[in-house]
Amino acid sequence: MREQLHLTGSEKGCDQGQCGTCTVLIDGKRINACLTLAVMQNGREITTVEGLAQGDTLHPLQQALIEHDAFQCGYCTPGQLCSAVGLILEDEAKTVSHVKLAAERDGTLRAILHEAIAETSRIEDYVEVVVNWSGQLYACDNVRLGYQLVALDQYTPIDMRAPGAAHGVHALEVAMDELAYALDMDPLALRLKNYTDRDPMKDLPYSTKELRACYERGAQRFGWARRTMAPR
Ligand code: FES
Repeated sequence: MREQLHLTGSEKGCDQGQCGTCTVLIDGKRINACLTLAVMQNGREITTVEGLAQGDTLHPLQQALIEHDAFQCGYCTPGQLCSAVGLILEDEAKTVSHVKLAAERDGTLRAILHEAIAETSRIEDYVEVVVNWSGQLYACDNVRLGYQLVALDQYTPIDMRAPGAAHGVHALEVAMDELAYALDMDPLALRLKNYTDRDPMKDLPYSTKELRACYERGAQRFGWARRTMAPR
């Protein structure tokens, strides 16, 4: 790609599948180009960093790297960008969460169900911590959590900056917002109603937890009291 097609964003670092400098997208998925042969990818769509922009309009991640001066030396930046774009695409498609909540009219949570289906490779059971947070964030006596792995023909995923928490907490918090709307209750008040200073899974007090202070300060800064009640 680099020498014959002159796509100079394609680069090689370690040549051993360790550094990620050579990452490109094949049919939208990340792959270390140094570990694959061109003949193995016949007929597939290959995207290098040159293909991320739409004409003169940069991909939002490219733009963000410029705005936040995140290039570092720039050598592996094309690989980082392809990897980040692939991560976002893969992420959207491959962790499915199913959340159900039950509550009293006053917002007291009575039951939480959170089940997730995630992917792994055919050679390793990669387990991401996705659903556990739903048993820890709020006081609730009836919690059921489930996690199912599906083995696919791909390499094993890895943790990076707590992606499991990002999916899991997002699913739970969207459900909390929907519950608040169904109860005609302030979503912040619903969270405070079910606030806990103990880890309900272990029945132990948190050594530190400043979430209540964060709620208060955030609400003040965002002007929560002046917002429109109906969700957008
Ligand atoms: S060159 Fe380092 S992973 Fe491919």
